[in-house]
Amino acid sequence: MQLPDYDRAVREARALMEGVPEDVPNFANLSALVMQTLPDLNWAGFYTVTPTGDLLLGPFQGKPACIRIPRGKGVCGTALATGQTQWVPDVHAFPGHITCDAASRSEVVAPVFREGQVAAVLDVDSPLPDRFSAQDVAFLEAIASLLSR
Ligand code: SME
Repeated sequence: MQLPDYDRAVREARALMEGVPEDVPNFANLSALVMQTLPDLNWAGFYTVTPTGDLLLGPFQGKPACIRIPRGKGVCGTALATGQTQWVPDVHAFPGHITCDAASRSEVVAPVFREGQVAAVLDVDSPLPDRFSAQDVAFLEAIASLLSR
């Protein structure tokens, strides 16, 4: 498989966000960019943190998904609770994994930080087991950090 041009995709992400302070268009465009950059994904998108500290579905690409995820539940809720990227080669082996699309086999969730707190998460799913490399994870963290402040 030819490697994606990660640097180019990050430059494109910056260009898409330039002069756009609003979250919805940025989350929407970056989920589309991630979906186009990484092959073999079935879902790419964002959950945002609500005032009660749980996750709410945001802009995404893929099949319709779970709307609310409690803090600490599933891969996304674990990324929120720990503030750490979750790199899951086999979703069936992850305790409490939440199935939104039954096709998903591996998953990465990277937190978006604002003022030192997780404000959103970037969630990416693949139908292939062990789909994600360390470079893919670094790319997803770079995309998430573009949205941090
Ligand atoms: N699998 C996620 C739920 C979100 S969907 O994959 C889009 C989880 O366990 O948190």
